[in-house]
Amino acid sequence: MSNYTEEINRRRTFAIISHPDAGKTTLTEKFLLYGGAINLAGSVKGKATARHAVSDWMQIEKERGISVTSSVLQFEYDGYCINILDTPGHQDFSEDTYRTLMAADSAVMVIDASKGVEAQTRKLFKVCVMRKIPIFTFINKLDRDANDTFELLDEIEKELGIATCPVNWPIGSGKEFKGVYDREKKCVIAYSDTEKGTKEGTATEIPVENEDHLREIIGDKAADKLLEEIELLDGASAEFDLDAVRSGDLTPVCFGSALTNFGVEIFLKHFLNMTSTPLPRKADIGIVEPTEKDFSAFVFKIQANMNKAHRDRIAFMRICSGKFDASMEVRHVQGNKVMRLSQPQQIMADERKILSEAYAGDIIGVFDPGIFSIGDTICMPKEKFQYEGIPTFAPEHFARVRQVDTMKRKQFVKGIEQIAQEGAIQIFQELNTGLEEIIVGVVGVLQFDVLKYRLENEYNVEIRLENLPYEHIRWIANKEEVDVNRLIGTSDMKKVKDMKGNPLLLFVNSWSVGMTLDRNKGLVLEEFSRN
Ligand code: G4P
Repeated sequence: MSNYTEEINRRRTFAIISHPDAGKTTLTEKFLLYGGAINLAGSVKGKATARHAVSDWMQIEKERGISVTSSVLQFEYDGYCINILDTPGHQDFSEDTYRTLMAADSAVMVIDASKGVEAQTRKLFKVCVMRKIPIFTFINKLDRDANDTFELLDEIEKELGIATCPVNWPIGSGKEFKGVYDREKKCVIAYSDTEKGTKEGTATEIPVENEDHLREIIGDKAADKLLEEIELLDGASAEFDLDAVRSGDLTPVCFGSALTNFGVEIFLKHFLNMTSTPLPRKADIGIVEPTEKDFSAFVFKIQANMNKAHRDRIAFMRICSGKFDASMEVRHVQGNKVMRLSQPQQIMADERKILSEAYAGDIIGVFDPGIFSIGDTICMPKEKFQYEGIPTFAPEHFARVRQVDTMKRKQFVKGIEQIAQEGAIQIFQELNTGLEEIIVGVVGVLQFDVLKYRLENEYNVEIRLENLPYEHIRWIANKEEVDVNRLIGTSDMKKVKDMKGNPLLLFVNSWSVGMTLDRNKGLVLEEFSRN
């Protein structure tokens, strides 16, 4: 096996999804700690804060105490080269969060044991399902009082529609938390609260066969309950099936406490064991295998103005095949240009490391003078194929935009179009009315503030936003077969078109969506657009 295939096969690229406060940052920190990428827990947050000082419009994030931009962390562990794609943790997250999932090969879902499945987890989970990537669950905060374990699993199965397979099982929670039972090894790993920020100590493993010892360590009450639960569990839970995990139909579940550093390394080990090497990708020439020699990548995210002084944009690419070498020439397919990628870098929290080589599975950021768009393909100069595009996800908030000074129409249109091209917002126009009004749709409301701020600061255009009541947007999947003008909708429905001229429908509530489908037989509506 040549060196580059070895390098590719040891790569694991995953995203962490969770509702804010479930413990994603804490868990990530502990992963990095095991990998030796950081020496002290707390550094991830510290760096994120430092980064905010770099650019101006990110001032908004700083003021609100949240992070809108997602970064990529790479570290080594046990021979693996791991790429973690961080997804913004606030409810005001943006479409970027969804797009990040397009670059991952699997997802880790962190759930707070006292809260269960929460809104943001549900949304992100939907995108993972659409991609059929494996999902690994870490149920966190067992050192605090938790919901009943069977109920938690039941909730995941019912709410998210994925079968669960507990890899281990918690013994009590909160003050009564005694550790976890490892189902494969049939032993109990006793809880020890190691100091925050240090690696897990050597865990005490007690085989359940050795009942006396078990009772001595965790007490009679906990032992009775555990033995009863093991019996129930072995009878009731889904059989472990790696194929079902790989196709995203079954999620392995681990329990622990990221803060007190318990169960994290066990989870990481199980996870790395089960997750796959970089996945093949669909292109117009067929499936491209990651181990193919020729380099190829696609752009999944563009971040503007990371450094305002240089007005730079960074295009984030996921390498899909082969090896990237900074000195090589590549083809930007959509721009039909052969070029060298400028200043390829890996972005680790706030640090940018210029890199000379990278492999399929890795994420690189390159300087973008304004030529790349989300979904673009980069490949070898002799090739000319395109990866399947990144879907446009449904915005959930809408507003009408008006410019305050109508004389500045040109700057206004230029600015809003450029910001839309970067993918921070989506813009729509009313169908057939000829009105020059623009409707903006965003996934997270914070993007409205970002839009206003950027138009003022970068394009010198002041705008006013008037919120619209729409919450549901649907693309017409069979637009060739449907005469949009003749669609019979509900009174609250609005017909609009996107930048590419695709017709869309906006609705105030989901009832209207159903009603419109009922009234127009044959109409097929979609929550995202692949055009
Ligand atoms: P997020 O990235 O998913 O938003 O969550 P984050 O890791 O920032 O954790 C949110 C809060 O939950 C933090 O407390 C964190 O310390 C706490 N936490 C994370 N994992 C555990 C756990 O296993 N057990 C317990 N008891 N708490 C946990 P905070 O007070 O909001 O912040 P901080 O001041 O501790 O940083």
